[in-house]
Amino acid sequence: MDTIWRMLRSNRAASEDRSILSLFDDPQRFDDFSLTVDGMLLDYAKTSIDADARRLLVQLAEEAGVERQRDEMFNGEKINTSEDRAVLHTALRSRAESHPAGVLAGIRKTRTRMEVFATALRNGEIKAADGGPITEVISIGIGGSDLGPSMGVKALGAYHDGPKVRFVSNIDGAHFTEASKRVDPARALVIVASKTFTTIETMTNAETAKKWLGKGAESQMVAISSALDKTAAFGIPADRVFGFENWVGGRYSMWGPIGLPIMLAVGPERFAEFLDGGYAMDMHFREAPLAANMPVLLALTGIWHRNICDYPTRATLPYDQRLSRLPAYLQQLDMESNGKCVMADGTPVAQLTGPVVWGQAGTNGQHAFYQLLHQGTNVVPCEFMVAAEGFEPSLQHHHELLKANCLAQSEALMRGRVSKNMRPCRAFPGNRPSTTLAYRKLTPFTLGQIIALYEHRVFVEGVIWGINSFDQWGVELGKEMATALVPLVQGADASDKDGSTQGLLKALNAG
Ligand code: F6P
Repeated sequence: MDTIWRMLRSNRAASEDRSILSLFDDPQRFDDFSLTVDGMLLDYAKTSIDADARRLLVQLAEEAGVERQRDEMFNGEKINTSEDRAVLHTALRSRAESHPAGVLAGIRKTRTRMEVFATALRNGEIKAADGGPITEVISIGIGGSDLGPSMGVKALGAYHDGPKVRFVSNIDGAHFTEASKRVDPARALVIVASKTFTTIETMTNAETAKKWLGKGAESQMVAISSALDKTAAFGIPADRVFGFENWVGGRYSMWGPIGLPIMLAVGPERFAEFLDGGYAMDMHFREAPLAANMPVLLALTGIWHRNICDYPTRATLPYDQRLSRLPAYLQQLDMESNGKCVMADGTPVAQLTGPVVWGQAGTNGQHAFYQLLHQGTNVVPCEFMVAAEGFEPSLQHHHELLKANCLAQSEALMRGRVSKNMRPCRAFPGNRPSTTLAYRKLTPFTLGQIIALYEHRVFVEGVIWGINSFDQWGVELGKEMATALVPLVQGADASDKDGSTQGLLKALNAG
């Protein structure tokens, strides 16, 4: 691979002064540097990648073994080596018998139980504590047990016809307090979602919720977990527990029981359409040649920007208000998966790995941080998303303005504006890269496509960097130290701590 990395760097050195805009002298540029899969279009023409660079990038993916490792993932091999686990979240949305025997039967059984439960709750057969219908659901979880369902419920707001769903993740008591304000516990269902059922934030909030529900609390609770012994010890009846296997990583789990809040909000049929969207993207990822493969090409733009152009970050900019939680979701998906400094074999990485991923829904970001995107000293590749149609026919003019703004930003970033008599502060350097994902409408199917696209993008980047994208050891140290600090926050001797921690404890513990 070293040779290809070198060739890519020389391609960049030779073409660095060429503007992205000039690539459009070729009338075929858009057609050659965009692709459509099941109605979803990825445009990467507004990047500095040219035909030679793309050929080399595809070669890099080939040499890194993307196809082989992709097949290993789908076949259930233990590619999460540090945890000795398979990575089979794709089985949760599979419509074919293309996964290892036995895997799909268990998944279908649990999905059927979820569907029966969701239907009964939505039509009022499952009663609240006061005998009436359940009108409010509070879902407690954090990280992958929160971001997927909370992002998904918001994303599918146009289809929401079930109970109101609120989410509590932070250990800060303010979160539970605010979420449960004006909610009648006698009309509520509490979901406790935690793969391990040990996460301190979730278990603390779950205990608080139990007290809030009062007598007979357990009958108003549901658990979603892989640790069935722990859900039983917590007191949740087995028929209210939806389990999943340890080969579903937390940040890849919204397709299974962790997605229950979405199913409650929009119903089993819409949830199935979401799975179909993910499955369609899986089939494309498995079958399309690398050079015409959307997740691979999106990953290669990432590699180009991170490793060849040395850009430290990338922005996720959905021009779709209902995707306002997507940047937070992608932050975990990407940064927890690819924020690694050693390779899967334990040796230091040879290349820079995951960039800082952040963003916000357009057009809000335009009035906040786009100043830096246009004139700042760091170039930030921008990943735009936009729908052809909105859900508000009477507000069509809003949608036209939304689309115009999205297109204006990618054009302005690329084109810039500099003229002879212009004051320097008014000049836009331009030549700033972006990609745009365009889809007809944010349906459940579309959402499934988007999430699976990004999952596979993260996977391909991880393979090229040689890292294990499916573990997250980097979150452990802080968790352990927090546990050890609790007695000190409660007043125990802190003299073996560093000066800063001692000083802060003194300030925070002062009556
Ligand atoms: O913070 C790390 C992490 O393990 C995430 O990977 C995970 O999504 C989250 O905590 C929640 O874990 P659990 O579902 O076990 O509560």
